[in-house]
Amino acid sequence: MNPELIIVNPSYEEHIALIQLNRPKELNALNLQVMGEIRDALKMLDEDDNVRVIIITGNERAFAAGADIKQMAGKGAIDMLKIDQFSTWDQIRKTKKPIIAAVSGFALGGGCELVMTCDMVVASETAQFGQPEIKIGIMPGAGGTQRLPRAVGKTRAMEMVLTGNFISAEEALKYGLINKVVPTEVYLTEAVRMAKDIARQSPIAVQLAKESVLKAYEMPLQEALSFERKNFYMLFATEDQKEGMNAFVEKRNASFKGQ
Ligand code: CAA
Repeated sequence: MNPELIIVNPSYEEHIALIQLNRPKELNALNLQVMGEIRDALKMLDEDDNVRVIIITGNERAFAAGADIKQMAGKGAIDMLKIDQFSTWDQIRKTKKPIIAAVSGFALGGGCELVMTCDMVVASETAQFGQPEIKIGIMPGAGGTQRLPRAVGKTRAMEMVLTGNFISAEEALKYGLINKVVPTEVYLTEAVRMAKDIARQSPIAVQLAKESVLKAYEMPLQEALSFERKNFYMLFATEDQKEGMNAFVEKRNASFKGQ
């Protein structure tokens, strides 16, 4: 693949891949090409055995200021239905490996929704999150009315979606939308640090654990518990389980191979 609007580095650090959105003049507005390139990059990285964790970032001024308003402005409902841009988001959601969003500046509309499609979020103190679609006569369409209330609760989500006002990184942290806020100079370094903590673990256990946590948002509790249990049992078929438990008993560090 030869992406034009994102930069993909499969070996940014050992076992850690980086995808950087690269439309700085448009504040990384997510047009169809950018979203397609992100989808294709994630698919490629998901299939790369050397990659264990993926970081998605933008630049200091903007993670992403939303779907590309200029691309959507003249469209009708049937055009939008045919383009079916959100099926790309569904593909992104299916990524098996953990994705960390490293966010600085604006994460708005589709940008905030992309953040919520990721699994963990490290933000710089300048980050701002919002669903401002209401201000341009529409509403969120890539999960903003669904993932936001699950993350921050109904009343805060309602306020963000109905007023379009942004929240600061500190507020996002307090509301549970993100994992941590750090100084701007280190937001990417901090995301890498978090990625390294995950990359050290068994990749199969990480994959099944991610899949199980996501079921908490998609299934009734009893079914989700049963799903979790099956994934738990399945891990006893891996060499990594034997290695992890033997290493504990032998008081040494485990070395996981993803087998
Ligand atoms: N789409 C297209 N272009 C965008 C954009 C977007 N979402 N956001 C910013 N840009 C462009 C601007 O048009 C501008 O381009 P020009 O220089 O060619 O005029 C450039 O990026 C810089 O932006 P500003 O001059 O506006 O910068 P600012 O610092 O004054 O303001 C901002 C920054 C508050 C983020 C403002 O740009 C803004 O409000 N952007 C739109 C945010 C928004 O409404 N996002 C939701 C989009 S709809 C959506 O996402 C639907 C969905 O659910 C998927």
